[in-house]
Amino acid sequence: MRLVNKLELSGNLIACRLNPDGLGVSEFYLGEFVESSSFLVGNKGRWRRSVWDLGGVRREWKDGVVESLTVHGDSLHYSLSSGRGSLRGEVKPSQSGAELTEVEGGFAISSEGWTLALVTGGKLKVGGNSYEVSYDDGIEVAVAGGDSKALERARSLLGSGKDLESARREELSRSLQRVWNGHPLWDYCWYVILSNRVSVRHPVLRAPFTVPSKYTFRHQWLWDSSFHAVVLSLYDPDLAAQELENLLTSQRPDGRIPHEIFLSRAKCRDFWGVDDYSPPTTQPPVLAVAVERVLSEKWDDRFAKLALEALVSYDRWLERSRDEDGDSLYSYVHPLESGWDDSVRWDEVKRGEGMEPVEAVDLNSLVYKQRRVISWIARKLGEEELARRFEEKASATGRMVRTLMWDGERGLFYDLLPGHVKSRVKTPAAFMPLFAGLADVEQAEALVSHIFDPKEFWTHFPLPTVSADDPKYDPRGYWRGRSWVNLVWFTYKGLRYYGFREEASVLARRLVDTMGTTCRENYDSSTGEPMGAVDFGWSTLVLDVMRDEGMGQQAGRALKLASQ
Ligand code: GLC
Repeated sequence: MRLVNKLELSGNLIACRLNPDGLGVSEFYLGEFVESSSFLVGNKGRWRRSVWDLGGVRREWKDGVVESLTVHGDSLHYSLSSGRGSLRGEVKPSQSGAELTEVEGGFAISSEGWTLALVTGGKLKVGGNSYEVSYDDGIEVAVAGGDSKALERARSLLGSGKDLESARREELSRSLQRVWNGHPLWDYCWYVILSNRVSVRHPVLRAPFTVPSKYTFRHQWLWDSSFHAVVLSLYDPDLAAQELENLLTSQRPDGRIPHEIFLSRAKCRDFWGVDDYSPPTTQPPVLAVAVERVLSEKWDDRFAKLALEALVSYDRWLERSRDEDGDSLYSYVHPLESGWDDSVRWDEVKRGEGMEPVEAVDLNSLVYKQRRVISWIARKLGEEELARRFEEKASATGRMVRTLMWDGERGLFYDLLPGHVKSRVKTPAAFMPLFAGLADVEQAEALVSHIFDPKEFWTHFPLPTVSADDPKYDPRGYWRGRSWVNLVWFTYKGLRYYGFREEASVLARRLVDTMGTTCRENYDSSTGEPMGAVDFGWSTLVLDVMRDEGMGQQAGRALKLASQ
C-alpha cells in the first residue's frame, strides 16, 4: 500500500510526523513519557512529493534533497540525503525534573523508567531541553527508546536505516497479508488497528493493548478497547481477548472497571489530580459487547468464566454506585464517563468539572445488553440460576427504558435528567435501544424515520452527535455535531437486528463512501471532512460493517462473511 502525503509513522511507543511546513520531523512521542511538537525541524519550505508505504516515508524536495524516515519498535531513523543547515528541536519529558543529559554524539532523557536516546553524525549543541544539529552534507539521526541500553541501540542504528526499514516492512506485511484484499479503506483500516498495538513494561498495563491513536491518545481506554476487540475478533479471537486483559485485571475490588489506564502516572496526576494510573470513573459499558463477540468467534471456557465473573461484579458496582433512586436505570455522573465529553446532552446539568446524574439512554441500553450477555454466558456454562437472575435484571431495565425514556409523540428516546424529566436533546444515543434489542417494533419503526431524515440525522456524514435541527448543532463541534464511526456502527447493527436490511446497507454504503481512504477520529457531519486524531482505532469498526455487507472479501480463516 502506497499513500501520497501521509506524514505519520508509528512503531511501538514511538510515533512521529514529518514536518508538514518544512524539513524534518515535527511531532514526536515516546508513549506518554516524552513528547515534542518540534522534534527536529529545519528550514521552512514546500516539498514536491511524499510517499508513505509499509517501510516508512520518503519525501522529495524541489532542490533534489530527499528525506527518509522510518520507525520500527522503539527505534527511529531519519536522514537527509544532502544539503547544509541545521535541525533544531525540543523535547519534554512528562515527569517534571527529568533533564536532557549530553552524551558523545547525542543526548539521553529519562522519564518514569523510560529512556530516550538520540545520536547523530552531525554537530550537536544541547541546552536545557533543546538542541541543534548542524550538518554540511546531509545528516543521519537515530533515536531509540527503552531501558538504559537505549543509547547503545541508538548508536548501532546509525548507518543502518535500511535495515530498520526492511524490519518494519517485513513485520507489517506479515501481519497484514492475512487480511488485505486490495480495497483501499479495508486495507488501511487493518493497518491502523494492527499498528496501534503497544507492548510495554508497566505495573498495570501488563498485556499488550491497542491505543486509540498513537499521535493523540496514548494509553488504554475502556470503551475504545472494547471496540478494538470487536474488530480484532475478526482477525484473531485470541488477540481480541488479550485486548481486554488489562481491563479485566485492573477491575477494582468493588467491581468498577476503570475508565482508562494511563501509561504515565505523572500524566494521570496532571489530568485527574489522582496519584494513580486511573481516575475514579468508568466508561460506557461496551465491554460485554466485546466479550460476546470474542466468545462468538471462538468459545473458550477459561475466558468465558473470567469475563463472566468480571461482568457480574461490574454490574453489581453499577447497581450500587450509579442508581441513586434504585429504579433499575443507571446514570452517568461525569461528562467524561459518558465518552461524549462535551455533548449538548450535558449542557443543562454540568456543575463545574462534573455534572448531576443523568439516566442516559445509551448507558441503559448497554446495561440491558450487558445483562443479556451475562445471562448467555452463564447459561452456556450451566449456571442456570444466574442466567435467569440476569434475564430478569435485563427485563427490568429494558422495561424502564421503553416506558420512561420513550416520547411517543416525537417517536424518540430521550435521556432522563434529575427528577425523571425528559431531556429535549435529540442525539443518536436514541438509536441505542435498537442495538441492544430492547425497543418494541413500533418504536423501532419510528426511530428509522429519524435516522434518514436530512433535517435531523441524515447529514453528509450521517448521525451527527446532535440532531442537525438542534439550535446548538455544530457540524465541527467535537461531540456537538461531528459524526463518529462507533455511533454509526451501533445504529447499523441495530437496523440489521430489527430486519431493516436495506436501510442498514444504505447507511453502510454512505459510511464507506464518506470515509474514503481515511480512518480519523471523527468527521464534519455536514461535509464529511476528516477531523480529530489520525489513525483512530474504533473508526476501524467500518471493517465489521464491510464484513457484514460482503464488501470485505473473504480473507483469512476468521473473516467468514456473515451468514445471515
Ligand atoms: C476522547 C473521547 C472519548 C474516548 C477518548 C479516547 O476523550 O471523547 O470518548 O474514549 O477520547 O479515544
